[in-house]
Amino acid sequence: MTGVHPAWLPAEAFRAVGSRRVAVHGDGLLVDTVRAEVAAAGSSSSSPHDLVLSIGSSGSLGDEGFALSRADGVTTVVANAPAGLLYGFFHVVRLGEAAFGADRPVEVHRPALRRRIVDHWDNVDLHPAIGQVERGYAGGSLFWERGALRVDLSRVRDYARLLAACGINAVAVNNVNVHRSEAHLLTDRLGEVAAIAAELRPYGIRTHLSVNFASPILLGGLTTADPLDPAVRRWWAATTRQVYETIPDFGGYVVKADSEGQPGPFAYGRSHADGANMLADALAPHGGVVHWRAFVYNHRQDWRDRSTDRARAAYDHFAPLDGQFRDNAILQVKHGPMDFQTREPVSPVIAAMPGTRLAVELQATQEYTGQQRHVCYLAPMWSEVLRFRPNGDGRPAVATLAQTGGLVAVSNAGDDRFWTGHPLAQANLYAFGRLAWAPDADPPAILDEWIGLTFPDAPPQLRQTLHAMMDDSWRTYERYTAPLGVGFMVRPGHHYGPDVDGYEYTPWGTYHFADRDGVGVDRTRATGTGFTGQYPQPWADVYESLDTCPDELLLFFHHVPYGHVLHNGSTVIQHIYDTHFAGADEAARMRDLWSSVGHLVGSDVDARVRERLDEQVRSAAEWRDQINTYFYRKSGVPDVKGRRIY
Ligand code: GCU
Repeated sequence: MTGVHPAWLPAEAFRAVGSRRVAVHGDGLLVDTVRAEVAAAGSSSSSPHDLVLSIGSSGSLGDEGFALSRADGVTTVVANAPAGLLYGFFHVVRLGEAAFGADRPVEVHRPALRRRIVDHWDNVDLHPAIGQVERGYAGGSLFWERGALRVDLSRVRDYARLLAACGINAVAVNNVNVHRSEAHLLTDRLGEVAAIAAELRPYGIRTHLSVNFASPILLGGLTTADPLDPAVRRWWAATTRQVYETIPDFGGYVVKADSEGQPGPFAYGRSHADGANMLADALAPHGGVVHWRAFVYNHRQDWRDRSTDRARAAYDHFAPLDGQFRDNAILQVKHGPMDFQTREPVSPVIAAMPGTRLAVELQATQEYTGQQRHVCYLAPMWSEVLRFRPNGDGRPAVATLAQTGGLVAVSNAGDDRFWTGHPLAQANLYAFGRLAWAPDADPPAILDEWIGLTFPDAPPQLRQTLHAMMDDSWRTYERYTAPLGVGFMVRPGHHYGPDVDGYEYTPWGTYHFADRDGVGVDRTRATGTGFTGQYPQPWADVYESLDTCPDELLLFFHHVPYGHVLHNGSTVIQHIYDTHFAGADEAARMRDLWSSVGHLVGSDVDARVRERLDEQVRSAAEWRDQINTYFYRKSGVPDVKGRRIY
């Protein structure tokens, strides 16, 4: 499509493959895709070949793995199944000339996680308050426009291609908050989902659908959605059969139930296992799965009530249900116990349910991390989550625990010509795919890979500058926003920009409890909400004690006086001042860095990035001044360095 940025697949990225003689052996839709890719790259098919891609039965590469080698001037990719060949092809593209250099012994590549999913929070309709894509910062939906399926779906195909090239293999097409029109995608508007699936399929992407738990009432004319009611179960079974008749490789359902106003099993006195299992049973005959979200909490809490702790909610609801879920029910858990804040501990649910398949949900769309107006490369945060060992050293990491269910990211893409609003936010979608494939991959290396693919002809100066701007940008963002893991100092509703007390006296359960003496949430067992007790050892004790709680999570777990001395030697109040001055300075430096290289990218990319950096610098200063002023006024403690606080 003209005018759309090619993201990490510009024509120049295919130069190395395009200048080679390539053979593709095998049959199947995805092998045909590889053939088409090879042809589009300009490769010749005449022999002798420089690159041979073939389906072979030897080895145990699985459905998606491939083996790469090079000997006697020939690079070889072998896969056992078509998807593996496609991933192998994109791997060669990533390597570029390096794929055709020295001999290589056989390397086997297999994804660590089988399910690597992006969830779209897309609505069919435009909603006055939230736009079309809930928490979307990249324009409208790639799938729907003005209440109807897009007439031209060619961009969906391009999107599938981008996703496959970073290893993603499934897409949930619609918002977890399933409004009336979107509910119909399950039945009378299923053809729209089938049309999207047809565009995604050639790139090995399976389609999933968010469904409304009350569908039997909304769509089926029943009077109940009780998961144990036989008529309800029959309705779901018949409806699901129809889905598979229309979309034979359909992936399954995503459900947000009893959460933020969505219907669920509680209305019928049933458990979330009852609800999930009913859908799992409907999907099982067809090989589908239900992703049942664990984001269940009381959003109508009384702020005066100090005994309710939203961080506890998912564990309190779900841990007792461990072992009760069907094999094809996957519990989808947000990575932190609250809600995608810049810094949270890992959710204790992930360690608490060894008898349940778990998927971990990340948020690529930058709801709380600058809304794609700020540069904020999230792979370092995600990598910390994936490497975290909830049961202590020597025990499985989060990435291993998620092997049973997969890794999910809320998509940051939309119909914006740069796909993600901020051109540099593409790196988050790319990095998500790469981390889902290889959770121990190194975030700085993924960043360089993305830079190299996206700007293949970039001189070293541009590559180095992009790296310098982006690599630590999550921590920069953390520095100028909410301090020490406390979270939620954002404007209520849209969640952009500072508003320290914006949520403090609301029903949402997101408080910081700052007063003249101190700040933070006491979640200890000794004197607080007891949340630390949801962790296994060693973390239950590490987080409980002020001596061992990591600084960056201090205010998540403890309420401390402003004079409390951190492990880094600074007091809490001085740390707040120092990080906020430093963070805003770093944002300004980012803009300076870009001004020296912006001319090296296309003028359209340059203009967009400049516009966003201007806003980031303005916003970071706003954060700095509001946070510093707020805490200065509360505490009365001056900055030891005498900098300007209002
Ligand atoms: C956040 C977000 C909502 C979203 C919800 C969810 O609360 O602000 O827009 O619906 O998460 O994950 O379901």
